[in-house]
Amino acid sequence: MPDKHTATRHMIGLLLGTEDDWPTAFEEILRRLGAVDGPGGRHAFDTERITIEPFSLRDRPRYDLVIDRLAYWYYHPREWLKKVALMDGVYLLNSPFTFQSMEKHAAYCAMMRLGLKVPETVLVPYKHPVDNARYAYTASRYNKAFDLDAVAERIGYPLFMKPYDGGAWRGVSRIRNNAELHAAYDASGEMLMHLQKAVDFDVFARSLSIGPETMVMRFQPDQPMHNRYAVEHDFLSPEVGQEVVTIGRLVNAFFRWEFNSCETLVKDGEVYPIDYANACPDVALTSLHYYFPWAMKALVKWCVFALVTGRPARLDLETDRFFAVADQAGLSYREKLDLYRDLADAYFDSARYYDFWASRQAHLDEIVLDWVAGPDFDQLLTRTVRSVYPAHEHDQFIAHLRGLMDLWVREETARLATA
Ligand SMILES: Nc1ncnc2c1ncn2[C@@H]1O[C@H](COP(=O)(O)OP(=O)(O)OP(=O)(O)O)[C@@H](O)[C@H]1O
Ligand SMILES: [Mg+2]
Repeated sequence: MPDKHTATRHMIGLLLGTEDDWPTAFEEILRRLGAVDGPGGRHAFDTERITIEPFSLRDRPRYDLVIDRLAYWYYHPREWLKKVALMDGVYLLNSPFTFQSMEKHAAYCAMMRLGLKVPETVLVPYKHPVDNARYAYTASRYNKAFDLDAVAERIGYPLFMKPYDGGAWRGVSRIRNNAELHAAYDASGEMLMHLQKAVDFDVFARSLSIGPETMVMRFQPDQPMHNRYAVEHDFLSPEVGQEVVTIGRLVNAFFRWEFNSCETLVKDGEVYPIDYANACPDVALTSLHYYFPWAMKALVKWCVFALVTGRPARLDLETDRFFAVADQAGLSYREKLDLYRDLADAYFDSARYYDFWASRQAHLDEIVLDWVAGPDFDQLLTRTVRSVYPAHEHDQFIAHLRGLMDLWVREETARLATA
């Protein structure tokens, strides 16, 4: 047990791909935050970027918590994550065991089962099957001929054809008629595709959740990357806003994801979730801009809370608890959402989290404001723009991002002054 002069040290591992912007921000904020008081005395935090190397299945990892951004694409780190989750109790923000549910398909199924308004969706067999010597025999014997046009007509045009496991809009197309339908299906090749009813939405609300915190942002999919997240407050009615937040939390509590984004389309006040399995969500400075400080704070807060309180990783899904709500007779959609929200709050230990941060929030707010308003952040901003955009666009995007961050600094300064 540490005395009051020595702190318990916690090692946070970052499993990274090409990103350098948010990891730098995260490391810097944590460094500036320093040690915090918590149960059992002082707690201090170190971060380390994880390297990929051979590991014995009996090796003991150096990390207490890992933020993973890589394992969805690379199997070696994925298997390492499973090992440290199963054998060493390392705290992971997203369960590696539900990664398969990051295939949109399973996530659609789970949320339909819970009564959410996922648009009508059909999975069609491969246009060209994966190369397997036995496939031709199996297909000739068991694949039932099907009428693609009839499937599409039952769903109704316009519709979307998209891979069952999508990401980054690969293979996504909007289809208005049967000529486009056949062209898209022929082009799908070895990708396994969903057909999904298009929602002619009024508002696209994309929420980013980190632990028990959620930021709902107005998303503009037809805009170029840097303009997709609009800086706009109160663009949803309070009830719809609550519904969007609850849906994101529910998905996350259900799958044990604590760092995930959720896309919902709002039409005439109804909320349709279309993509909520993004457990490596976009948190790039160039995408989130104004919302970037919020995301970094939430990430630091959740990691610190989990470590300081010794939050155990919960790998079991307890799906029955969610299904029991779904199956309860006589409950309206709203009543079910309220009960799902309670289950999600319990999973995220929300009350304790907010209680823990209540006395520490002002300090963190000051640290982050000071950093974003200062020269280190500006360096990060310019370095990031230079690594993302071609040379002739550097000045334009540096000015654009500086403008948005200045706006955040002004608003945050005013907010803290009145707080
Ligand atoms: N049912 C739908 N109705 C209306 N628009 C849709 C629908 N499905 C997809 N879209 C549009 O297509 C885009 C990409 O679809 P989706 O999010 O499912 O693919 P993705 O590859 O996961 O994209 P990302 O990686 O950006 O999340 C959505 O952001 C949305 O603009
Ligand atoms: Mg998407």
